[in-house]
Amino acid sequence: MRKIFVTGGAGFIGSAFVRLVLAGQPEIHIVDYDALTYAGNLENLSGIDESRHDFIKGDICDRESVLNAVPSDCDAIFNFAAESHVDRSILSADEFLRTNIIGTQVLLDAARAKNVRRFVQVSTDEVMGSLPDGSDEFFTEDSPLQPNSPYAASKASAEFVVRAARETHGLDTVITRCGNNYGPRQFPEKLIPLMIANAMNDEPLPVYGDGKNVRDWIYVDDHCRAIWLAFEKGKAGEVYNVGARNERENIDVVRSLLDALAKPHSLIKYVEDRLGHDRRYAIDPSKAENELGWKPQVTWENGLASTISWYRENQAWVEHIRSGDYRDYYDKMYAARLNASGSTQA
Ligand code: NAD
Ligand code: TYD
Repeated sequence: MRKIFVTGGAGFIGSAFVRLVLAGQPEIHIVDYDALTYAGNLENLSGIDESRHDFIKGDICDRESVLNAVPSDCDAIFNFAAESHVDRSILSADEFLRTNIIGTQVLLDAARAKNVRRFVQVSTDEVMGSLPDGSDEFFTEDSPLQPNSPYAASKASAEFVVRAARETHGLDTVITRCGNNYGPRQFPEKLIPLMIANAMNDEPLPVYGDGKNVRDWIYVDDHCRAIWLAFEKGKAGEVYNVGARNERENIDVVRSLLDALAKPHSLIKYVEDRLGHDRRYAIDPSKAENELGWKPQVTWENGLASTISWYRENQAWVEHIRSGDYRDYYDKMYAARLNASGSTQA
């Protein structure tokens, strides 16, 4: 058995990665390390092959705990653990800087101390800032890092500490930068699951600004396959952009969800915009395609249909989350905005 150490494996993308690796790589044993913050959920791991998966509850900033948890014969650390929501980083940045930067440094130090073969940092296209509306520009691996939100700034800083570990200590590192993921088990603070959950409950759908911000959407399993290939085939020290060439305006995404759920467009409410709202993300994934042999396998239509089916069939999962601290967050983020919103536009 080859061992890998996955952080954040109880979150949305981390748990999809755990599932994909256990299903597709029979020789891999996973040590899954997660602090189980509000976004971590052991229900995300239900039904997996427990014989090749050890779960350890722990904080990536806790040096001693991390050193104890990383196995001595470890092929790779995959760092998914992060504070991941832009809106929360606008409310308060502290936890983003702690987990996303300090936590990454602690993991890099552990990788060196335990002679881990490769360190895979799961980064985001958001480190590259925003592209102009309607331009034909794309993010490439050479695009400058110009983060605009505290979340993006913390992820860009994480990339810098990864780079420094490579340049200073010769650690074998690879960074992936992916666009917006969607799929089952995404925490309903992010656009797609929030809109699905609200629509299923006949609640208003809060669209920020004019709804014309563009995101480049990718099905979560396609992202996870790219991360695995970056580990197996990526060149040390390289960055790989990951995207499915699937740019969509937010309002079009929301309308598609309402149509699929047979709910009226009158549920859409335009609300006050997000501060510093990035206008457009668009990824050129040529390098990952050419060097890793990666290609997305899931079309937007199929991915969206299976995502909606999952949320329909797992309403208990959604309601469990929505009944907890989430309510406070939702009220803080949306109550005033929705009260102020007069406009319902289809
Ligand atoms: P998520 O918020 O769903 O999950 C994050 C996980 O990390 C949770 O299980 C949480 O418990 C864990 N965690 C948080 N702080 C921790 C800490 N201090 N120690 C240990 N565990 C901790 O996030 P996600 O959407 O699954 O994103 C996973 C990674 O992918 C993040 O690094 C994110 O920046 C990156 N990413 C996300 C997207 C996206 O669209 N969601 C796109 C590109 C990159
Ligand atoms: P989000 O899912 O938070 O991802 P990110 O900010 O990392 O791209 O948001 C996706 C887009 O949807 C973004 O342009 C903000 C917008 N949005 C809304 O319009 N309303 C909402 O309630 C949320 C959560 C997001």
